[in-house]
Parts: sequence; structure tokens; C-alpha cells
Amino acid sequence: MSLKEDILTILQIKNGDYISGQALAEQSGKSRAAVWKAVKTLQKEGYVINAVTNRGYSLANDGDILNSAKIKNAMQHDIAVIHYTEIDSTNTQAKRLINSGEANETLLVSAERQTAGRGRQGKTFYSPAETGIYMSLVVHPNTMLQNAVTATTAASVAVCKAIERLTDIKPQIKWVNDVYVNDKKICGILTEAVSDFELGIVTSVVVGIGINIKTNDFPEDVERAGSLNADIRRADLIGAVADELLNIIGGDYSDFIDYYRSHSMIIGKQINYIENGIVTPAKAVSIDETGGLVVQTENGTQKTLKSGEISIRW
Ligand code: BTN
Repeated sequence: MSLKEDILTILQIKNGDYISGQALAEQSGKSRAAVWKAVKTLQKEGYVINAVTNRGYSLANDGDILNSAKIKNAMQHDIAVIHYTEIDSTNTQAKRLINSGEANETLLVSAERQTAGRGRQGKTFYSPAETGIYMSLVVHPNTMLQNAVTATTAASVAVCKAIERLTDIKPQIKWVNDVYVNDKKICGILTEAVSDFELGIVTSVVVGIGINIKTNDFPEDVERAGSLNADIRRADLIGAVADELLNIIGGDYSDFIDYYRSHSMIIGKQINYIENGIVTPAKAVSIDETGGLVVQTENGTQKTLKSGEISIRW
């Protein structure tokens, strides 16, 4: 990081409090004159940095700027965080880092905006700057995860817990792991496994999460999309989601299945499920112990869906 970035990070962590020029110089390992010069440059770039004799420097409300230091600072778990101003897809980038051996430990990848955000079933995920969060958590089953499949259900639980921690909103889950608020989808989750073909095992799992916080100009072909519309800092939400996910991802369904059930928005509802390309109308009956969806078809037979897509007949 450059001195300018170092200073910005330190000031952001101070969250509006003052820090002396001497302390900034010591923490960045540079002279006070160099610090002063870097502060001047930042001010020219538009950052509102107050300089007060005998108190030092403070950064006025920086709005909602995202960077890896702010995300790390918002987290309890101590993991590596890589933040990009722009990337095609945090999931794609996470997989590149896995393949190049740069993601051998638990890692969080995030971005201000995605130019090719990916959804399930080959769909795109609209990912504009400033109004949402786009993050991918890389975990390794041998160290973090008993069962790669639990990650996909656990992710929706983590998102709901984080939202409930930071706001008064009560989110709901549409099986398997879409998160809804006021009957609009505000979060999509794409979980991808990276396997070692020779060993025949899943070596890494990438849990990609996108949450619309204040996005309101969705492309026309995006159905039932909405936003959280909450006044929260994006770094806090990324940190909270990552923390909640890391708390539960190594465990078992029994740790979070009751929470998942209590947030399900589909039980008792008329749905369509899609299997082998065939759309079948049914009623959603319950969620089983491992997150499977028990449905009852129109001829009265019950079956449990383990994965796949459903749509609600609104
Ligand atoms: C879906 O609802 O279809 C899943 C959407 C998943 C979007 C997230 S945003 C962060 C991560 N990177 C991606 O390209 N996709 C996921």
C-alpha cells in the first residue's frame, strides 16, 4: 500500500476521531512531512480531512467507502480479505486465486462492482457500484467444512442473521437460499465447489453472496428484485455476513436448521418445482433435517427435493 492508502485506512478506522501527525507518521513508518504531503494530496482528491492544531487529523464522514481494511475492521474472525474496485465476478476471481495457489487459507474476496456477476443457472447478477455488496468466501472442506453441501443452506442463514444484527428488518428465505424482504429478492447466493479430480475430493468451496442494499434500477429482465433499503455501512454488512457464515459453516445442519425453518417463506405455499426440465405444481409442506424441501403434488404424493429450483405461485 502507498503512504496515501495507509493514511486513509488509519483515518477510516479512527471513524471520525482525531489522530496526531506524529502517530500517523509512526504507524505508517514515514516522516511527519511525508504524512502532511500525503494528507494534502488526499484532500485534493476530495477527501474531507480536518487538520486541527494540537489534535491532528480526522476524516469527515467518508460515506460508505469500501476497502479491505474497513472490511477486516468490521469482522471478528481474522482472515485475509482482498477487495477490488472492479472485477468481473468475485466468485470467478476467487477460483482464479485458488487455482494459482493464492487462496490456500480461508479468504474473503469482495468488490465495489462486478462487470460480469454470475447467478445460478447461467443467469447474470446485476452488480452496480455503491448500492450493494458482492462477496465470495473461500473455505477448504478439510479445514473448515464437514460437508460442502451445508454451505449453501448455511449462507442464507448467515445473511439473515447479519441483517437482523444490523437492522430491524426480518428477512425470509425462499428455498434453497434466496433471501427476500417484503416479497422481493434482495440477496442471491451462488456456491461453487473446486475439486481435485485425481483425489476425487472437493478441495475448496466458494460461497458467493450478493446483497442489494440500495439498488433500484434493475434491468427489466430481473424478476422480483428488491433492496434492503437500510441505512447501514456496506463494510459492516460484509463483515457481519462473513462472521456469521464462519461461525456456522464448519458445523452441522442441526446447528442452524431451526433458524432456517423459522425464516422460510414457502411453507404452506403453492409452488412449482422444476426437475429434469419438467415443471410440476405442488404445495411446500416442510423442511427436513438436512434442508430438503418436502412437497406434496396435486395427486397427494409427497417427495423431498434435495436441490434444484422452485418458484412461488404468488
Ligand atoms: C442467484 O441468485 O442466482 C445467485 C447470485 C449470486 C451473486 C453473487 S455476487 C458475489 C458472487 N459473485 C458472483 O459472480 N456471483 C455471486
